[in-house]
Amino acid sequence: MKKISILNIKGGVGKTTSTINLAATLAEEGKRVLVVDIDPQSNSTMAFRVYDIDDLTVSDALLNKEIDVKNIIKHTDFNNIDVLPSNISLAFAEKKILLDVTRNQQNRLKKTLESVEDEYDYCIIDCPPSLNMITINALVASDEVIVPIKIDKFALDGLGYLLDSIDEIRDEFNEKLVFSGCFITMDTSTTVNKEIKKALKDLLGDKIFNSSVRQNVSVVESTFEQKPLIHYKPKSNANRDYVNLAKEVFGND
Ligand SMILES: Nc1ncnc2c1ncn2[C@@H]1O[C@H](COP(=O)(O)OP(=O)(O)OP(=O)(O)O)[C@@H](O)[C@H]1O
Ligand SMILES: [Mg+2]
Repeated sequence: MKKISILNIKGGVGKTTSTINLAATLAEEGKRVLVVDIDPQSNSTMAFRVYDIDDLTVSDALLNKEIDVKNIIKHTDFNNIDVLPSNISLAFAEKKILLDVTRNQQNRLKKTLESVEDEYDYCIIDCPPSLNMITINALVASDEVIVPIKIDKFALDGLGYLLDSIDEIRDEFNEKLVFSGCFITMDTSTTVNKEIKKALKDLLGDKIFNSSVRQNVSVVESTFEQKPLIHYKPKSNANRDYVNLAKEVFGND
């Protein structure tokens, strides 16, 4: 099972949208995919229609090592996609982890996922817009991290800090962690966009994927339909872009 975190400390850049649609693209190719939702907003859990406030969630897996993650993972209506769900309890789980000094705090998600290592081809982790202990758990559990970027006036702010933090986590906790690159979401062909893209290419070199995802109203519609684009509108620009991005990100696997 290859594990990929989708991370940016900025909010609203397309982490969840990318998680949902990259997962669905892989699933349509016959890959078995586990989506791990580590955001207390639970957007990807809701998108796959498996949100239930009373259920066990990823928080329970992080806090109680006696619980088998297989009893928490939910099957979805979509072929080949299962979800390790979150709910709002995850907002309190971080503090509990930090207060519990009897166990390692950074490798809990990694340990949790070990029991399903052979059940899936891919695990895609939808991170919250922050770099907290739960996010560190995602990076410690991951083989790769990819970073969606929405181009706006503040697109580059904090990016250097994020990339430095990924380096630090690799050095400290997970030497196999690969920063595969950034990709642009909600792309438009305005002059400002083109200028910022150029600045990004200068900053990131080859760590920016060629495929970017165009701004497309079908994405917003698909969230209301609670369907990944490949099921809601396969011919939409954004779906085509996610299929291309998936080829670029996972193509050599
Ligand atoms: N390509 C796109 N075209 C149009 N709208 C998009 C596109 N990608 C994402 N959006 C919209 O932008 C908003 C933010 O996207 P999303 O929830 O995926 O971001 P996020 O990074 O997960 O946010 P958060 O940091 O809150 O978790 C959503 O309303 C989503 O529907
Ligand atoms: Mg999100």
